[in-house]
Amino acid sequence: MEKTVNMDWAHIPFGYVKTDYNVRCTFKNGEWGPIEVTDSERVDVHMAATCLHYGQEIFEGQKAFRGKDGKIRIFRINDNAERIQRSANGILMQPMPIEKFREMAIKVVKLNERFIPPYGSGASLYIRPLEIGMSAQVGVSPATEYLFIMFVTPVGPYFKEGFKPTKVAIYRDYDRAAPCGTGRWKVGGNYAASLTAGDLAHKNGYSAVLYLDPKEKKYIDECGPANFFAIKGNKYITPKSGSILPSITNMSLQQIAKDMGLEIECRPMHVEELAEIDEAAECGTAAVAAPISEVDDVEAGKKYVISKDGNPGPVTTKLYNHLRAIQLGDEEDKHGWVTVLD
Ligand code: PLP
Ligand code: COI
Repeated sequence: MEKTVNMDWAHIPFGYVKTDYNVRCTFKNGEWGPIEVTDSERVDVHMAATCLHYGQEIFEGQKAFRGKDGKIRIFRINDNAERIQRSANGILMQPMPIEKFREMAIKVVKLNERFIPPYGSGASLYIRPLEIGMSAQVGVSPATEYLFIMFVTPVGPYFKEGFKPTKVAIYRDYDRAAPCGTGRWKVGGNYAASLTAGDLAHKNGYSAVLYLDPKEKKYIDECGPANFFAIKGNKYITPKSGSILPSITNMSLQQIAKDMGLEIECRPMHVEELAEIDEAAECGTAAVAAPISEVDDVEAGKKYVISKDGNPGPVTTKLYNHLRAIQLGDEEDKHGWVTVLD
């Protein structure tokens, strides 16, 4: 079989491509079973399963890269493993042990090695772990059986513009999460709750919705598929909120920013501060660090122009380049974020 599949790597979108295998594990009779390998893209689900009725679905997103040295690197596996455990505990699902999660991630990447985009293509192999409640239940209560799957798909940039600034919109009539709700976990329902406003944003030429805190509608929360950060002088400012997903990319960028000598402020960020910042970006595994040119607070009738010349800001560019360099193995992994496969 060929070492790498033949694809137009520089132009692949962020989408689903069938690969060779996925890996699965079932929780039944109080324990996780062995890791199974399959080439089936299908799942046989009971019509009364809790994932279909009561939203017992959680997922993750992480990436694997091919380095210049030919080696495969997976970024921060343990952080994703820990986060999906928190998501599981958050909606009373069975947490997957960290070691088993690692084993599944490494296995699914190795089994689909020929789909890892070549070094220098700008693309990567996206890993999608997910867990669903499988038991048949009609009353509202958690399942006793769970299915955990990991599949992979080669992806290009999440936003079709790539590393070019895009506009985002604030729609005050929509929230994706509630105070003390599920925004802090990666549950499917949060994304269902973001679809209407997301669709409105896309139809109006925005890359994403920027959500405000759902309680007071004064502070910035995050974007639909990514966290938010701003650069002001020598400061990296990112919202602190109980209703946003703790982004592993954001944590990494904060560390890289600190290493670059920037000051980090993780605190509630008033929406009107947007008038005073130098740069802004959406950050996440899929988005990486996608610069924001403008924030339109639609119902409030306010527009915050951030990038006046339409180019990514210098600090966002540096942060983006450092992060990619660590992920690809071009820069020293001094914080121990990368698992290099043998
Ligand atoms: N916020 C939301 C709502 C997300 O879906 C994601 C994507 O995973 C992020 C933030 C970014 O998190 P991470 O950097 O861990 O991918
Ligand atoms: C990610 O960045 O991994 C995400 O999950 C965001 C989006 C694709 C839902």
